[in-house]
Amino acid sequence: MNNVKIIGVGSYAPERIVTNSDLSEIVDTSDEWISSRTGIKERRITEGEDTSSLAAKAALNAIKDANINPLEIDLLIVATTSPDSFTPSTACLVQAIIGADNATCFDIGAACSGFIYGLNVGTQFVKTGVAKTVLVIGAEVLSKILDWEDRSTCVLFGDGAGAAILSKSETNGILSIFTGSDGKGAEFLKCPAVTVKNPFASNIDKKSSVVSMNGKEVFKFAVKTMPIGIDKVLKDSAYTIDDIKYIVPHQANMRIIEHVAKKLGIDNEKFFINLDRYGNTSAATIPIALDEMAKQGLLKNGDKIILVGFGGGLTFGSVLIEWLI
Ligand code: UT7
Repeated sequence: MNNVKIIGVGSYAPERIVTNSDLSEIVDTSDEWISSRTGIKERRITEGEDTSSLAAKAALNAIKDANINPLEIDLLIVATTSPDSFTPSTACLVQAIIGADNATCFDIGAACSGFIYGLNVGTQFVKTGVAKTVLVIGAEVLSKILDWEDRSTCVLFGDGAGAAILSKSETNGILSIFTGSDGKGAEFLKCPAVTVKNPFASNIDKKSSVVSMNGKEVFKFAVKTMPIGIDKVLKDSAYTIDDIKYIVPHQANMRIIEHVAKKLGIDNEKFFINLDRYGNTSAATIPIALDEMAKQGLLKNGDKIILVGFGGGLTFGSVLIEWLI
């Protein structure tokens, strides 16, 4: 099996900043409620740009960071819950924009865990020699599938994209990786597609394509599965939590992160947080955070970090990385 490592990261978020007080002019909410219940202060919202465009900009930043030619990419995966279209895939649209003409392209739907699922798939392709260079993107324009009259969801999410490039390497940077799903919890976080409507359909169940959520159930799922994911990747490697410099969690709610820190008996400071500035960008939260950490110089060669996520599906996953840039 080949060794795999991350050779570049990048991100992009729309320029338009929407603050909590901006939202209080749209729905019955307040900065006090949103800040104290979630930790979110502001988020980025597109003024028309779609998911493939954000994804391509994040990808071009990662390509620059990795110093590769887009033609070297042989697999391109976009993790998204908010694709531009049913077909073509967002990955194919990104391929055309960035000129990754030699890539096989497809999307992954694992909601907020999507980037970790994408890293897992990409890692297996490189390990087995099927691909050498893989671009994994987490990208979302959630603003187009939110119900802007539902204060219990529209204040939580934002738009953005992050990307990482995996490559075959001499030393191993993906030390252990884990994904899981629990379809029994599908009802707790959903956004239906279109209604089945054809000349033969009897029961027409009218669907509304907006996000709805049972926040309390998702909260419980998150605080249960994040420690499981962290333990799993530690057990599958030679490391303990003390060897880990940072945990990069899915950015949904500061209270979830505090619960997990308490459960694991570790400091909140071990978690990299940027949800105050972006809100929950689903599949994009973890790669945006990773890119910010790299650009801020927080990651040094040899550092061990854990990425850990959870989301609709329900899905969850984690990866233990040795930073080898
Ligand atoms: O990527 C995965 C995404 N999802 C998550 O991670 C969600 C996990 N869950 C959560 O983060 C939390 O459950 C929420 C932030 C969604 C909600 O927090 P909560 O403490 O569970 O609040 P709640 O749903 O119990 O609502 C408490 C009150 C309710 O009013 P009443 O019934 O007590 O009068 C809500 O109607 O807060 C009200 N409320 C709001 N008030 C002002 C709900 N949303 C808002 C709002 N502004 N935006």
